[in-house]
Amino acid sequence: MQKLAIQGGNPLHGEVRISGAKNAALPIMCASLLTAETLRLTNLPDLHDVGTMRKLLQQMGVGAETAAGEITFNGGKIDNWEAPYDMVKTMRAAILVLGPLVARFGDAKVSLPGGCAIGSRPVDLHIKGLQAMGAEIAIEHGYIHAKAKRLKGARIFFDIVSVTGTENLMMAATLADGVTVLENAAREPEVVDLANCLRAMGAKISGDGTDTVTVTGVEKLHGATHHIMPDRIESGTFLVAAAATGGSITLRETRADILETVLEKLTEAGAKIKVEGDAIHLEMKGRPKAVNVRTAPHPAFPTDMQAQFMALNCIAEGSAMVVETIFENRFMHVQELRRLGAQIDVEGNTSVVKGVDHLEGATVMATDLRASACLVIAGLVAKGETVIDRIYHLDRGYEHIEAKLGQLGANIRRLK
Ligand code: UD1
Repeated sequence: MQKLAIQGGNPLHGEVRISGAKNAALPIMCASLLTAETLRLTNLPDLHDVGTMRKLLQQMGVGAETAAGEITFNGGKIDNWEAPYDMVKTMRAAILVLGPLVARFGDAKVSLPGGCAIGSRPVDLHIKGLQAMGAEIAIEHGYIHAKAKRLKGARIFFDIVSVTGTENLMMAATLADGVTVLENAAREPEVVDLANCLRAMGAKISGDGTDTVTVTGVEKLHGATHHIMPDRIESGTFLVAAAATGGSITLRETRADILETVLEKLTEAGAKIKVEGDAIHLEMKGRPKAVNVRTAPHPAFPTDMQAQFMALNCIAEGSAMVVETIFENRFMHVQELRRLGAQIDVEGNTSVVKGVDHLEGATVMATDLRASACLVIAGLVAKGETVIDRIYHLDRGYEHIEAKLGQLGANIRRLK
């Protein structure tokens, strides 16, 4: 199993290009199932999850041709409507094939994802939404089997805001008969990026980016070219890493408008931030100040940045409260941070972090994607060497992380 070894203590300096967003790329790749014509996607990140999604689509009969940074998908010869357990268990986003398959072919069989390290993560809202649109759904042998002659537009209210739930039903509704209204929909920028791609394919969607999304179904979608939006979580992770190490960096090809709460928190921590077009500059002098964070659906503070801010708070001046309201078990990194000398108390979904003077390198284990990013940040500030085990989680969501951090002056290498 591969590991990362980090010698802490180097402040990050320099420039880094931000990759296309994983959480936009995955649903948008699934949009290729909605048409027999060609969907060309540019700015796709080179990530393990993107590779898994591509394999899954190919297994269904989607053609996929790669050129530098782009893949051209063709859904003209799809002959298999099944997402097997093997793939869904390694990448929960595979559930996103369900809506498009049942909308276009009237049949889909997708493995139930099961639990994961950060919580139980059910998909009941995806299923209920498709049922409201007239799909017949059976759960058999661990699979969701959905059938429908043609989906019908419906008014669907989400009890809980769900990002992939909104995306799945939005895709399904594009080919349904009539109007679908999704209420209490997710407002995440990745939902908007998917809607932009679907509109380029001929879908009629309005209200994306608000909590009410309206989709008027059409008979057919057509081919399109779409450029994947920048990854706001990768952007935020580099900014926190620079702030924690007392560095000065510039992110290129990103967007500040999708990072508002993160930039606000970094400013509160004492960083100087300047935005120029698609670039964000951050400079941190001295020790960061501890900042409270409370995760909630967009536009509030993202759960995918909680662990990274926890790492920052570990070495900050003062104490901070970190509250996780989206996932029930997203403090797996706390145990590992304690091994580096962090002082953190956890009570239910609340952590209290008391900043310490310094962390000390040790061997730690990555438990999920963002927890891994948190450990990398902790390793960058710790004294001595930190070895992070199980970094396959990082490769699922961060493109060439050690090369990018190395370019910014970090002393980091992969142990094979
Ligand atoms: C997406 C992101 C993930 C991010 C999360 C929250 C992708 C590929 N992944 O995950 O990085 O951490 O949003 O911003 O975009 N829930 C239910 N029933 C459902 C669906 C969800 O109870 O049918 C609950 C979940 O257990 C969780 C909450 O709703 O507590 C939000 O989850 P959701 O927004 O669906 O997360 P994902 O879309 O899986």
